Amino acid sequence: MSEKRGFFITLEGPEGSGKSSQARQLVQALRRAGRRVTFVRDPGSTALGRRLRRVLLHADVRGMTPLTEALLFIAGRVQLVEELIKPALAKGRIVVCDRFHDSTMAYQGHGGELDVAWLQVVGRRAIGGLMPDLTLLLDVPTEAGFRRVGRHRDRMERKAQAFHRRLRRGYLALARREPRRIIVIDATQPKTRVAQHVQQIVFKRLRMGRVLPLRDPTVRPRPPTIVGGPAGGRRGPPLRVTRPTEKSYGMV
Ligand SMILES: Nc1ncnc2c1ncn2[C@@H]1O[C@H](COP(=O)(O)OP(=O)(O)OP(=O)(O)O)[C@@H](O)[C@H]1O
Ligand SMILES: [Mg+2]
Repeated sequence: MSEKRGFFITLEGPEGSGKSSQARQLVQALRRAGRRVTFVRDPGSTALGRRLRRVLLHADVRGMTPLTEALLFIAGRVQLVEELIKPALAKGRIVVCDRFHDSTMAYQGHGGELDVAWLQVVGRRAIGGLMPDLTLLLDVPTEAGFRRVGRHRDRMERKAQAFHRRLRRGYLALARREPRRIIVIDATQPKTRVAQHVQQIVFKRLRMGRVLPLRDPTVRPRPPTIVGGPAGGRRGPPLRVTRPTEKSYGMV
């Protein structure tokens, strides 16, 4: 592949696992290192994506089926890929995206009990197979994540605990299937530790990217890498809830 392209990183994980905080810190670290970074979130970041996000996450929207939900998330993602992600990658930029296709697989597929094989095909085809080069899966037990989220819950966060347990298991199953792309990080660790792991992994992969193309079919997959040890149900102190706003997701 001679086409000049950047590097596509996504952050994934259950509610309150620290995706948005870690994404922000990663973007800052990459920019400090002199890299050109585009920071987006899915759903969101485009005019249509922001509207879809409101419909998808607003607690007052009731009765949406998992399939409707999946297709709306995918629609927003198509727009995000075409409007922002592809052009940024074509310019050689690093793209950091808060959630992406794996969220649909975990939430609507595993959590919502849709046909996951079908959803994989439809979800990937819709975005023309543009999958991340690297995905950081921040893993926390459901209860630990919810203790961080606080009392104000959006439509997805209001779903039953069983839904959230299924989606966490779903995420881990996705990581087992794609151990080279998806790196699992124990996100029960303190924020600064998690940030260190995230940055180490990203910086290492970026350097390797030049020598060893990530899409090289001769690269043998490795077993899932769990950074920071298995996630335990450790209790932390009560946490301050700071919700990122759309403004946090600057385009450049
Ligand atoms: N490792 C951590 N330890 C303790 N608290 C954390 C950690 N990471 C994030 N938090 C806190 O948990 C809350 C949720 O974090 P954040 O919004 O980054 O998570 P998220 O995965 O983006 O959540 P959501 O799924 O709701 O988008 C915030 O108050 C944040 O400061
Ligand atoms: Mg978030």
